[in-house]
Amino acid sequence: MNKIKNTLFSNKPVTFDENSLIMAIESSCDETACAVVKGGREVLANVVASQIKIHEEYGGVIPEIAAREHLQAINVVIDETFKQAGLKGDDITAFAGTVGPGLVGCLLVGLNAAKTLALAYDKPFIGVNHLNAHLAANFIDTDLKPPFIALLVSGGHTQIIKVDSYANMEIIGETIDDAVGEAYDKVARLIGLPYPGGPKLDKLAQIGNPHAFKLPEAKVSGYDFSFSGLKTAVLRLVKSFDGQEMPVNDICASFQECVSATLFKKVKKALEENNYKQVVLAGGVAANSEIRKKIFSLKDEGYEVFAPIMKYCTDNASMVASSAFFFDNTFDNIDVEVFSRA
Ligand code: KG4
Ligand code: ZN
Repeated sequence: MNKIKNTLFSNKPVTFDENSLIMAIESSCDETACAVVKGGREVLANVVASQIKIHEEYGGVIPEIAAREHLQAINVVIDETFKQAGLKGDDITAFAGTVGPGLVGCLLVGLNAAKTLALAYDKPFIGVNHLNAHLAANFIDTDLKPPFIALLVSGGHTQIIKVDSYANMEIIGETIDDAVGEAYDKVARLIGLPYPGGPKLDKLAQIGNPHAFKLPEAKVSGYDFSFSGLKTAVLRLVKSFDGQEMPVNDICASFQECVSATLFKKVKKALEENNYKQVVLAGGVAANSEIRKKIFSLKDEGYEVFAPIMKYCTDNASMVASSAFFFDNTFDNIDVEVFSRA
């Protein structure tokens, strides 16, 4: 894995190898995170300041508040990362930051911090796509190498991606309406669970009956998905109780069964029809117990299965550093602008 990056001032080429130390910053939504990763796979420090408590009050992320919180946290988080890694700015090989997709005001805080560090220490700067970073979380502490099929399930995206090399990836399926995380959060709100609803719904689903209610699986062609019909079906189900006590755990379990079965079927179809042997799960929803269980069951069919450990599923900066190290489709110009949508 040798990549040549140029520094801005001295213009000395820098080569990445297994000893390269990348410091990365992630601030696309409600986590201010900084990390140092060695050789793309070994995490030396991983610091995350979560804003969940602040946004809980409003039932969701308020972009303006989130951006201000990032500003408050960013320097502390960077200092703490240097401290935990036992490193100084001059020791770092390159600095990376998330460029998008995400909340623009939030992204600006982390990206400008990463650019400033690169300029101050005269090191290469690497801009990273947040979705690639979620995929790259699977390189941490593993020996994963392309080719593989990835199922990316996050708050904003649901995609099946063919990753043929560090330079080549192709989205072969995606949602035509709601993302999986979005569907989880909306259904959680419908049944009265507080923000962030996804993980709470998952917990209740584990103690409910997944076959209590038959919910409709959307019929969408190829590798695409649709979850808005399912959400409406849950709404109808909730209304049918008309104020009477609802079997909340069973509703959660039935919803979770429907979503995970759909994802499983499409991933299996993608593996079989395209002849891949490795599958990786990525994104915040990769933390989901039932989705993990179903995807990991592919091991019994001879596939190699990867999923990040919990703390690297949800937003963190180690995955950003790993993405900067491995993937070629990075943004290496210091004047790269943040973007909100993929
Ligand atoms: O990847 P992520 O941080 O968001 C984006 O980058 O868009 O993922 C956040 C999403 C939220 O929708 C959250 O509810 C969901 O991941 N999530 C879960 C679980 N843990 C997080 N959804 C279902 N089950 C979980 N255990
Ligand atoms: Zn994310």
